[in-house]
Amino acid sequence: MRILVTGAAGLVGRALVARGAGTMLAATRADGDVTDPTVRERLLDRHLPDAVIFCAAFTAVDRAGDRGESDRAWAVNVTAPGEWARRVPTWWLSSNFVYSTPGPHGPSERPSPVGAYATQKAAGEDSVLRNGGHVCRVGWVYGPRGKTFGSTLVQRLVAGETVSAIADVLVQPTLSTHLAASLMQLPVGISHHIGCETASWFGFALAVQARVGRGRVVPVRLVDLRLPTPRPRDARLTPATLPGWRAGVDELLRGEASAGRL
Ligand SMILES: NC(=O)c1ccc[n+]([C@@H]2O[C@H](COP(=O)([O-])OP(=O)(O)OC[C@H]3O[C@@H](n4cnc5c(N)ncnc54)[C@H](OP(=O)(O)O)[C@@H]3O)[C@@H](O)[C@H]2O)c1
Repeated sequence: MRILVTGAAGLVGRALVARGAGTMLAATRADGDVTDPTVRERLLDRHLPDAVIFCAAFTAVDRAGDRGESDRAWAVNVTAPGEWARRVPTWWLSSNFVYSTPGPHGPSERPSPVGAYATQKAAGEDSVLRNGGHVCRVGWVYGPRGKTFGSTLVQRLVAGETVSAIADVLVQPTLSTHLAASLMQLPVGISHHIGCETASWFGFALAVQARVGRGRVVPVRLVDLRLPTPRPRDARLTPATLPGWRAGVDELLRGEASAGRL
């Protein structure tokens, strides 16, 4: 089966391409803007995929509603996934942030988005499903060299820094390689792909610090970060079937060590 991954240079896209070597075909930003129908048709003609895992997205949560950014964000987060789904069997990644009420949330529970990014992800779900595509909800993904808390944490601790970590939000950290393996099953309809162990980022960071043996971790409250966009305090998903974050951290640190970054 030929699977085309858009957003293939991003955190999840990279993991999919690495995991599915030989099966996964990669489209990165350098191959064009996926919101452009001409680019879409060129990619489909070139790769002739049986399926697409659509990872291209505007993921800067706090900028998705900004004037000057929101049209671009809506185009890639809502309009384009629907158009791709109409054209080719498409699996699109949504977010646990579509929920603002306390979790855990099952796949059939209606989204309750708050803020521009969450609203775009909920609208993206509708757009994809209406056009015959499939929705894979994920959350709190970390992996090597990503733009996520989990990924930068290791490097900052190794450098001996003090890292602040949120202590009053429930998270289900999910390693990108574990997520990739799950997404490659291409489940139909709406599915959840999330690690089976719950923590706070503070608890997660303390465990990483204990393994790294350097740096320091201090707790902060969500409210202290004064983030422009509200974050859900408990957007846990169920069923949580992917490996837990303790195993994930071990795997991440082994990878960092073998790459000479530890
Ligand atoms: N990471 C998480 O914790 C998390 C949590 C919940 C949901 N998700 C969802 O999972 C999916 C993948 O996330 P990710 O963490 O892998 O994101 P990411 O690291 O930000 O990667 C997204 C990729 O898409 C590319 N892209 C953006 N707009 C594009 C466009 N118009 N045309 C072509 N390429 C474009 C980006 O390129 P540039 O860098 O050049 O913009 C980037 O390489 C997203 O739908 C996200 O909402 C992720």
